[in-house]
Amino acid sequence: MIQKAKIRKDFDWTEFWQERTVTWIKAFSWYESKVCLRLFKGLGVKTCLEIGGGPGYLAKLIAQKLGYKLTLVENDPVAYKLFKKVSNFGKYVFKDFFKYKPKAKFDLVFSFGVIEHYPKRTKRLEAIKVHASLSKKYVAIFVPKDSFLIRYFFHYPEDKGFEKLYHRQELEGELKDAGLKIVKFAQNLHAIGYLCKIK
Ligand SMILES: C[S@@+](CC[C@H](N)C(=O)[O-])C[C@H]1O[C@@H](n2cnc3c(N)ncnc32)[C@H](O)[C@@H]1O
Repeated sequence: MIQKAKIRKDFDWTEFWQERTVTWIKAFSWYESKVCLRLFKGLGVKTCLEIGGGPGYLAKLIAQKLGYKLTLVENDPVAYKLFKKVSNFGKYVFKDFFKYKPKAKFDLVFSFGVIEHYPKRTKRLEAIKVHASLSKKYVAIFVPKDSFLIRYFFHYPEDKGFEKLYHRQELEGELKDAGLKIVKFAQNLHAIGYLCKIK
């Protein structure tokens, strides 16, 4: 009898980062930074928070290019070790972002590759609302797209952890249901993202 691989509901970020090389992180971040820059250029933003900043290399590329004062919130120890090795730029807050209470809000709060790992829509909306609660002006969220290329070649294996692939309308719906106003859309081969305003 063929046994189906067990679907894991949690997501082991430590294992994920242990499997990543510095070359992979730099190449991936460089590619993804282009789609972020398409949404972020010309916003007149000074302070920026990345939620689930990982090793921080993606955020560093963006912050250096646009002159942002950068903060990252992240709670995985291996991601923090990688941050020290590959980026070491900006303020790193080692904390669960659901419990993060900074003294001041940020002009822009974004995440790339975070909300799609929560299987329940209610939890994803809760996560989006945390982005909004920490922002003064803008929120941007990037997730992997539901395309043939991603589904068959780059989708994270189910036995390793949950990853939702998104159609554009689904992300738009979740952002609106979380109370955000859509401003602009951008995509690349891997991801889709929306820039939103706080209502
Ligand atoms: C795909 S990674 C993002 C990597 C980053 N955007 C980059 O390109 O380097 C998602 C990150 O979110 C972090 N994360 C997930 N849930 C979190 C939580 N509740 N609090 C803080 N960080 C969290 C994970 O540890 C992981 O490093």
